[in-house]
Order: sequence, then structure tokens, then C-alpha cells
Amino acid sequence: MRLTVNGNAIDIDADPDMPLLWALRDLAGVLGPKFGCGIAACGACTVHIDGTPVRSCALPVGEVDGDILTIDGLATDGKLHPVQQAWLEEQVAQCGYCQAGQIMSAVALLDEIANPTDEDIDNAMGGNLCRCGTYPRIRSAIKRAAALKTAGI
Ligand code: FES
Repeated sequence: MRLTVNGNAIDIDADPDMPLLWALRDLAGVLGPKFGCGIAACGACTVHIDGTPVRSCALPVGEVDGDILTIDGLATDGKLHPVQQAWLEEQVAQCGYCQAGQIMSAVALLDEIANPTDEDIDNAMGGNLCRCGTYPRIRSAIKRAAALKTAGI
């Protein structure tokens, strides 16, 4: 089957029941999304399909219908996405394991709501767990990213 990942067409030989995460990591060599829980409960594997965040560990690759964006494809022309930039400026990551998923959920949130409230952030990010407890910095970084986006940075 053919997947479109970060703008590239990638042909893979996969059982349609294989989770998308496996197909991305093991067959397509796209290593940004992480395996956390395997039951769509932690968010580490979050990718976008046509702009919608999904848990790739629980989505059969045969059901994918749309363009896949992973954190690997977020920066364009060598320039970080504003959410990535804000993450760096706020020094969000601790161990880092959850952060690719956190960032992908934050990108989807800001695509939907330009200036999210704390409640908006909690609602959008509640499914992304962080064992290191970086939640306050995630919230700060989302607000910084919103400002960067508004400023066109
Ligand atoms: Fe360690 Fe979130 S930074 S799990």
C-alpha cells in the first residue's frame, strides 16, 4: 500500500491490520512518533491525518485515508514550526519521550484555536500524558507558540 507521509509517497508491504505506528517506524523509517502504551491512552504516538490528531498505535494502517504528518515533517525549509520554537524557548522537555506527541497535539490545537484558554489547552492536551510532569511548561509553550504564530514567526 502507499502512504503519504510528510509529503512523501512511501510504498510499504504491510498487513492492513498493522497499527500505523508500526508501519511508520518499522517499514517507513519514520521514527518521530513513539510507542508509549499501545492502547491509545498516552498520546506519545500522535500523528496527524489530514490535520486531525490520531493515536497511531491504535489505528490500523489499512484504515488510513489521508495525508500523514509526523513531527519529522513539521519543520519546513529548515525552519522550526512555531510550536517547536516555543518548546525550545520554554525548555519544555525533560526526558523527552512524550514530547513528539505533545507537540503534534499542540499544533492541532493551535490550528483550530489561535489563542487557546487554559481550559482549551486542558481539553486538547488531556490525552497526552507526561510522566515527567512537564504540564506547566507545555501550557506556557502553547501560549508562546500562539504569540509566535500571531506575529508570523
Ligand atoms: Fe518525560 Fe514527558 S518529558 S514523559
